Amino acid sequence: LDDLLGEGVSGRRVLVRADLNVPFDKQNPGVISDDGRARAVLPTLIALRDAGARVIVMSHLGRPKGAPDPKFTLAPVATRLGELLGSPVVFASDTVGPDAAAKAGALEDGEVLLLENLRFNQGETSKDDAVRAAFAGELAKFADFYVDDAFGAVHRKHASVHDVPAILPHYAGGLVIKEVDVLKKVTEHPEQPYVVVLGGSKVSDKLAVIKALLPKVDKLLVGGGMCFTFLKAQGHEVGKSLLEDEMVATCRDLLSEAQGRIVLPVDVVAATEFSADADSVTVPASEIPADRLGLDIGPESVALFAGAIGGAKTVFWNGPMGVFELAPFAAGTRGVAEAITKIDGFSVVGGGDSAAAVRTLGLDETAFGHISTGGGASLEYLEGKTLPGIEALEK
Ligand code: 3PG
Repeated sequence: LDDLLGEGVSGRRVLVRADLNVPFDKQNPGVISDDGRARAVLPTLIALRDAGARVIVMSHLGRPKGAPDPKFTLAPVATRLGELLGSPVVFASDTVGPDAAAKAGALEDGEVLLLENLRFNQGETSKDDAVRAAFAGELAKFADFYVDDAFGAVHRKHASVHDVPAILPHYAGGLVIKEVDVLKKVTEHPEQPYVVVLGGSKVSDKLAVIKALLPKVDKLLVGGGMCFTFLKAQGHEVGKSLLEDEMVATCRDLLSEAQGRIVLPVDVVAATEFSADADSVTVPASEIPADRLGLDIGPESVALFAGAIGGAKTVFWNGPMGVFELAPFAAGTRGVAEAITKIDGFSVVGGGDSAAAVRTLGLDETAFGHISTGGGASLEYLEGKTLPGIEALEK
């Protein structure tokens, strides 16, 4: 981005890929519950705006199916972005249609336009290279330059991430550069002891990263919905808890390969149903009643995990320990997050959900070494995969 700013962008049109895939309040539709991702891209947008560029921002939101869907409109995000920037953001009600074309054409120097959700167009996520390239061509028509500052989406081979930079002169935004620098440090030279904390609902989503990290870590602490498949693999009954039956054998293999380095919860908060009002009790992880489901790790597990975290020089954390959005099941995530803030070392919070947990639980963001905006992207980086968005920028 500094190179682009150095060339001078006043009066030039710059297409910025941002990751404005922000979470919304489940009780209040249209209300953004965590605007961290929008804040993270502000320095890039402000630098371009203040340099007199005509800034066209594009993003996805959620996973609509290639057609307009009001549930996934970026309109509320345009309003929020305008508030954060302190200057209005023009919103186009389509992505490459007549409204976007008219508004992109009418932009004045220093104005910012947000296009409607990229994923309202099949060309964005198509597996067909020609279909994606055609859509990328339509986006590229709007601008002279392309800046990718959507770290959270660099692992997607999508038109706005992978194909637009093949057409326009392209630059990495400051967020992408910072994220890659930090993750590179953690991947290549983690200071030992290195402890990884994984949560979230599915083992299958995390299998590749578990396999890639096992040889490198001193301890891998597993909480969240995925711990129940591991507990089952240890021979415990897990009641109505989340379970991936087809992954039990794989978890058994991982546990034996890890030789004690995978640490599981020893107690869980088990509820009668998935609800904040449900009756809940803390039980040993080996004694989850048949009619209950685990929705958080218990206090003994928090103490166990905090002990392992306390001795670490490097901690990477991805995925909540429980259903932190519901107050009765937030203590596990809070306890583990607090332990991470206290280490005498470097910590990275990887991911949409864990980063949102830090902010919604009101934890001190500055107490973490780095809070990544990328969930899947940071995991795929740690796995050592080639990220299509980074590869496209390097070409
Ligand atoms: C994320 O939330 O991790 C990014 O915004 C990417 O979203 P996606 O998983 O729907 O591609």
